[in-house]
Amino acid sequence: LLLFLSFFFLFISTLSSSLYYNCPRVHSSFGLFPIVILNHSDVSSDPKRDLEVSFLISPNHSLALCHSHLVVVHSHVKNVLERRRLRRTFESVSLSFRLLFVLGMESVESVEDLREERRMFDDLLVIDVIEDYHNITYKAQSWIRYLDEECRDVRWIVKMDDDVEVDPPLLSSLLRSHRHYSRVLMGRVYLNNRVMRNRHSKWYLSPSEFSSSSLGEYLQGMSYVMSGDLLPSLRENIDRVQYLWMDDWYVTHALLNGTSASLVDISLHIGSANSREEVEGLRRRGHSLIFMHLRPKEDFPLSERNRIWNEMKKSCD
Ligand SMILES: *[C@@H]1O[C@H](CO)[C@@H](O)[C@H](O)[C@H]1NC(C)=O
Ligand SMILES: *[C@@H]1O[C@H](CO)[C@@H](O)[C@H](O)[C@H]1NC(C)=O
Ligand SMILES: *[C@@H]1O[C@H](CO)[C@@H](O)[C@H](O)[C@H]1NC(C)=O
Ligand SMILES: *[C@@H]1O[C@H](CO)[C@@H](O)[C@H](O)[C@H]1NC(C)=O
Repeated sequence: LLLFLSFFFLFISTLSSSLYYNCPRVHSSFGLFPIVILNHSDVSSDPKRDLEVSFLISPNHSLALCHSHLVVVHSHVKNVLERRRLRRTFESVSLSFRLLFVLGMESVESVEDLREERRMFDDLLVIDVIEDYHNITYKAQSWIRYLDEECRDVRWIVKMDDDVEVDPPLLSSLLRSHRHYSRVLMGRVYLNNRVMRNRHSKWYLSPSEFSSSSLGEYLQGMSYVMSGDLLPSLRENIDRVQYLWMDDWYVTHALLNGTSASLVDISLHIGSANSREEVEGLRRRGHSLIFMHLRPKEDFPLSERNRIWNEMKKSCD
C-alpha cells in the first residue's frame, strides 16, 4: 500500500507541476513528431565549385573528440565569448557531448589567436576560407569531410550556430528516445520554401545559382541533429551534387539526394524570436525548448540572452 501511495503521489505531483508551469514532459511526445521521408531526385549536378579547402587548424586528439555525441558549431573567429558560453553549457552537465567549432579566417593574426585557443581546448577546425555569409557551405563541407575521415563511428551529430541557446539535458533525452532510429535528421522542417528572386533580399538566388523555383524539403540551419550513419553518403554526394551557398539547403537537401533519409519535425522544441513580444509568445506557448535563437544581436546582448534563457528554464523545472 505504501508503495502504491508513493507512486500515486509521484503521479499527482508530476501531473500538477506540469499543469502548473504549463511545461509538457518532452520525452513522452517524441514518438509523435511528424516525419517526412525524402525522395530527392531533383538535385542537379551543376553549378559545381571544386575548391579543395584545407584545414589550417584541426583537433590534435581526434580520439578524444570522436565521442558518440558530437556538437558541431558554425562559429566566427570573433565570437570567443560565444564559444566560451557553449563550452560551459555542455561542461556543466555530465553528459557525453563533445564540441567541434568550425571557423573560417579573417586575417593571419586571427589565425594566431586561434592557435592559442586551440592549445587550451583542442576543439577547433579552422579552414582556409575567408569568413563570409556566402562561404558557410565550405564550413559544412569541411566538417563532413573531417568527420567522415576521423569519426566514422559517431552516433549523433548536432549542428548549431554559435549564437543559439541549447538545453543539453533535453537534447540528450531527445537522442535517447530516438536511439533506435537510423538515417534520420531532426529539426525544423521547411516544406517547399519559395526561391527568392528579389535581388535586394538577403536570400536572393540567381537562376544560375539555382534553377528550380522551389527548394523542396529541408531543415532550418541554426540547429538540427543528424544520425552519424549518414556521414559516408553525405561525403560522397559532395562530389556529385550542385553547390549552393545556403548551407542548410545544401546539407539537408542536396547532400541527402538518393539517401532515403527521414526528416523528423521537432519545431515545437525550437524557438526563434525577433523581439520581446515574440519572446513572450514563446514563453506562453509553454513547450520546453531544446534550441532557441534570439536576434538581432544588438537587441539581445549575451547577458540578456542568458537571463531570458535561464528564466525560461526555471519555469519548466
Ligand atoms: C521518387 O520521385 C520520383 C520523381 O518524382 C518518382 O519517379 C519515384 O517513383 C519516386 N520514388 C519513390 C520510392 O517514391
Ligand atoms: C599534439 O599532440 C602531440 C602528441 O600528443 C603533441 O606532441 C603536440 O605537442 C600536440 N600539439 C599541440 C599544438 O597541442
Ligand atoms: C569567401 O568570401 C570572400 C568575401 O566575399 C571572397 O572574397 C572569397 O573569394 C570567398 N571564398 C573563399 C574560398 O574564401
Ligand atoms: C540524385 O538522386 C537520384 C536518385 O538516386 C539520381 O538518379 C541522381 O543522379 C542524383 N543526382 C545527383 C546530382 O547526383
